[in-house]
Amino acid sequence: MALLIGVPREVFPGEKRVATVPDVVEKLIKLGFRVAIESGAGDQANFPDDAYRTAGAEIVANASELWSKADVVFKVRPPTPAEVTMLREGATLIGFVWPAQNPELMQQLAARKATVLAIDSLPRQLSRAQKMDALTSMAGVSGYRAVIEAANAFGRPFNGSVTAAGKIPPAKVFIAGAGVAGLAAIGTAANLGAIVRANDTRAEVADQVKSLGGEFVKVDYEEEGSGGGGYAKVMSEGFQQAQREMYAKQAREVDIVITTALIPGKPAPRLITAEMVRSMKPGSVIVDMAAEQGGNCELTEPGAAVVKHGVTIVGYTDLASRLARQSSTLYSNNLLRLSEELCKTKDGVLDVNMEDDAIRGLTVIKDGGVTWPPPPLKVATAPTAAAKPAAPPPKAAHGHGKPSGAMPAAKAAWMFGAGALLFLLIGTYAPASFLGHFTVFVLACFVGYMVVWNVTPALHTPLMSVTNAVSSIIAIGALVQIAPDLSKISTDLTRPGEWIRWLSVVAIALATINMFGGFAVTRRMLDMFRK
Ligand code: NAI
Repeated sequence: MALLIGVPREVFPGEKRVATVPDVVEKLIKLGFRVAIESGAGDQANFPDDAYRTAGAEIVANASELWSKADVVFKVRPPTPAEVTMLREGATLIGFVWPAQNPELMQQLAARKATVLAIDSLPRQLSRAQKMDALTSMAGVSGYRAVIEAANAFGRPFNGSVTAAGKIPPAKVFIAGAGVAGLAAIGTAANLGAIVRANDTRAEVADQVKSLGGEFVKVDYEEEGSGGGGYAKVMSEGFQQAQREMYAKQAREVDIVITTALIPGKPAPRLITAEMVRSMKPGSVIVDMAAEQGGNCELTEPGAAVVKHGVTIVGYTDLASRLARQSSTLYSNNLLRLSEELCKTKDGVLDVNMEDDAIRGLTVIKDGGVTWPPPPLKVATAPTAAAKPAAPPPKAAHGHGKPSGAMPAAKAAWMFGAGALLFLLIGTYAPASFLGHFTVFVLACFVGYMVVWNVTPALHTPLMSVTNAVSSIIAIGALVQIAPDLSKISTDLTRPGEWIRWLSVVAIALATINMFGGFAVTRRMLDMFRK
């Protein structure tokens, strides 16, 4: 029997998002589910009831009716205690839950014998999980909106210009924390024409900051800032002191500060002191995106915009909700991708497979039993390449340590012996000129293998440019072989040199495919970053 997915209206004050949009309703129905929407659930995000009805959803008049009939509830915000009491016993709830911060809610949900999938607990480092990563999609929208809020509160344009009426200097924006939200803010502010600087404790983000048009400002203190999984850690007192000095200097110089710094499971680091706020120019703006987690700025008032010492401090905690139509669309796409993972048979039935790393990670309650926190992930995946430099020794088997310890000594000795024997045989029986060429060929293979193997998987695409260069060398070599007597090439393979000419033709064909294929893929990659 096809399950009924219910989407209630969000009750958190000011929340405008909705967990499912009409386009996604159609796709959920194609997966075999039935969908019911509480009347008015999408109104604030500009999705009227009629749009849902046209998409095939049933419109339910009120919340209690919806909660009591839904087999699966899609939500954005964690449910309130009143909502939990309406949840049908044994039903499934999917949405933001924040199990670490909401132990009571977890107990209530467990008492309802519910199965709860907390989208915030998704193991984001799995590449397969990216399509379901609502934290990333919401952070991207919020980062954009933070800049718009800053521009709204700031008294001049972001871009500089010279007009007959006077010169407008470009706004200077400093962004603290260059994670998903910070990078979105950097891109947006740079697009608006501001001079953008950014800092993060994870030094590996410097290139990302630059690629979006920002300047990475370093703290004058050597300390590794990665805490694993692409996240930050709490820094030493020495680092924090050096960082405060740098932030104090930036605060004096810039017009706008946007703070996004967070450390999972910890209060937001205090980066902007009251003293720094006082030192800012009148009319400056601070947007504190960490307001909900205690704020990066000492003077932030969560949920409000206040003016202190002539500086507007925006502490809104609903930045994604302020772009409700877009964030609802992205969020419901994330939930759709999750539903596809949970219903591979497309028959409208959920299979919460606890053997699947991604599903296991976000399932925080299964049939009333609390399954949070999940066991540590067994596999380390490519996207956390950023965290790799922090731990070189265990990575030895992956590449860097290959020559020294990766291969057992006995195996290496056998291979070496076999190689020597092969050379001896070739030296004895093959023409002298062949041995020279063969030696160069073997050495080239070895060097090529070592070069390619030692590149981290995250850099494999840029590596294509290198293989393109290698292909060009092959193509030139082959052209040299056939160019002098190309016109004489024949199918009579008994003619002297004919094999070499045909091999050259094949080499040119393969190298050409590699070169043009490489250029095509590189171009597609570059297009992804072009505006
Ligand atoms: P977040 O929201 O937890 O933190 C925001 C940023 O604040 C981070 O870049 C962090 O390094 C920075 N920060 C923390 N303390 C700081 C301090 N004292 N001073 C300055 N900056 C500080 O992180 P978010 O944005 O959710 O993700 C961070 C990173 O996680 C991403 O940039 C990415 O590398 C990784 N990630 C990986 C994913 C994947 O593998 N698929 C998916 C999502 C994120």
